[in-house]
Amino acid sequence: MKAVSFLHQKGGTGKSTLAIGAATALAARGERVLLLDADHQGTSAEWGNRFGHGFKVSTGAHVQPGLEDALEGLARDQDWVIIDGPPSLSSITEGILRASNKVIIPVRPAPPDLWALPWLAAIAEKLRREGRGPRPLVVVNMHQGEPLEPVLAEIAELQLPTHPQPLPAHPAFPALFEGHALPEHLAKLLLDLLLD
Ligand SMILES: Nc1ncnc2c1ncn2[C@@H]1O[C@H](COP(=O)(O)OP(=O)(O)OP(=O)(O)O)[C@@H](O)[C@H]1O
Ligand SMILES: [Mg+2]
Repeated sequence: MKAVSFLHQKGGTGKSTLAIGAATALAARGERVLLLDADHQGTSAEWGNRFGHGFKVSTGAHVQPGLEDALEGLARDQDWVIIDGPPSLSSITEGILRASNKVIIPVRPAPPDLWALPWLAAIAEKLRREGRGPRPLVVVNMHQGEPLEPVLAEIAELQLPTHPQPLPAHPAFPALFEGHALPEHLAKLLLDLLLD
């Protein structure tokens, strides 16, 4: 089983959208997937109530500290657990970092998403040095063709790697919340991200 989380304390960067999209892309390839909501807003859990069955995605929620201990029980019989993180930094964040084999930080290519990044990067780096968590991978989301050099330079200063392929702004992403599947080219981008 591989646990991948989408994490950033900044709101609205695409955590839930990309978690749902990644879960559906995996399930469409026959993988057994649990989409785990770790956010009180309940976006992924609510998506699961409405549409999870149709996509063969199991959903659950764990919105408290200690995910690393709970995960084994939650993930039984799954190939993947995709975790949708909260827009905050707390002991819940640490549990998610410790439970994850891979942590993906979506950022929009705009300064406020980057201003918020050092805090999460510092917590992740502390855990990584203690051997209790992975180094996060940043992915640019909602790219609309703007030049990325300044964004990438700022991320690199935090010693964080960035996925080479930005994810475009595309109406198929919000359409996930209406129960539509992602087109194949976008599903492929998310699978490449999970496997980076
Ligand atoms: N690549 C994209 N293209 C177009 N719209 C997107 C894309 N990614 C996310 N969105 C839209 O941006 C909005 C915010 O996304 P989402 O709710 O996934 O962010 P979030 O990080 O989970 O927010 P929160 O911090 O509140 O949990 C949603 O309306 C979503 O549909
Ligand atoms: Mg969310």
